[in-house]
Amino acid sequence: MLYDNHNRPIHYLRLAVTDRCNLRCNYCMPEHGLEWLARDALLTYEEMLRLCRLLIGLGITKIRITGGEPFVRKDMLKFLQSLSAIKGLKEISITTNGVATNALIPQLAQLGIRSVNLSLDTLDRERFFQITRRDELPLVLETMHTMLQHDFKVKINAVILQGINDTDIVSLAELTQDLKVDVRFIEEMPFNGGDHAATPPFWDHLRILETLQTRWPNLKKITDEPHSTSLNYHQHGHLGNIGIIAAWTRSFCGSCNRIRITPQGMLKTCLYDHGVLHLRDEMRNGKSDAYLTEKLLDAFGKRHKDGWEAEKNSAHTGDATSMASIGG
Ligand code: 5AD
Ligand code: SF4
Repeated sequence: MLYDNHNRPIHYLRLAVTDRCNLRCNYCMPEHGLEWLARDALLTYEEMLRLCRLLIGLGITKIRITGGEPFVRKDMLKFLQSLSAIKGLKEISITTNGVATNALIPQLAQLGIRSVNLSLDTLDRERFFQITRRDELPLVLETMHTMLQHDFKVKINAVILQGINDTDIVSLAELTQDLKVDVRFIEEMPFNGGDHAATPPFWDHLRILETLQTRWPNLKKITDEPHSTSLNYHQHGHLGNIGIIAAWTRSFCGSCNRIRITPQGMLKTCLYDHGVLHLRDEMRNGKSDAYLTEKLLDAFGKRHKDGWEAEKNSAHTGDATSMASIGG
């Protein structure tokens, strides 16, 4: 078991496999997209597998594949196949926007991947277009239903934006009534790739909860899973749960069990740091597994205690960070 300097176990890696995406969510990137990373700036699949093997050897048991949109990267399924063959890895999950995912679901199921987070901020087609700048709501909904038919554990991620989809909170939460999905509302974080100025979110976790409680006065707080980033609730009679992720407020840092690797191979031990170890460069400089292990352990031994400290102590690069280049 791997522990950090604050005695928090680390067993969860979020691996971002690309910064590219087939949507342009306005809380993540500008309409014209980002300056995409050059192909050779990205970790190769071999490099990713090497890092995953090392980290699984050290105690990582769960890996979430994220991006950008994972399925815009070529040969993603082949990579998942190799990843799923690594001994010691107990769970692979994926975060996807669902646009190009539907046809792949049977193959994901075959690989034993049954847990997917689906980004979906509204059920209204026009607002979906307004947020993502693409008219893909029907495809995303189709993906959601296919996943449910295949008995996937589906979590919906909805970022709540003032004046845009705040009116969707209740209708999204209503999905939990008849569908076995968890719907999680996320505070907007300051990682929009320069689309707009980043300010503390109007829709913080308290305001979101108030809105839910107005609709469902008997909404019950349920026990959160260990290391959960969401505060979870249940409405009697509903099939799914409702969660709120205080991603900006950062109230969950005390039990944070996760690390991240960005598409260009930077290790982040907090979402709010600017990267603590350039794994890609170390590997391309011919460094051994033993050396990498030492560097990784060193980084885990120096983790910031929370996202506030990480943000304060990280050299500000002046760039407009996007969630797609961090790994969602
Ligand atoms: N704030 C909060 N969540 C975000 N995501 C992307 N950008 C932001 C942001 N600025 C979330 C989306 C998606 C996941 C990859 O990250 O909900 O589901
Ligand atoms: Fe793409 Fe996800 Fe960013 Fe939306 S939030 S643009 S789906 S990477």
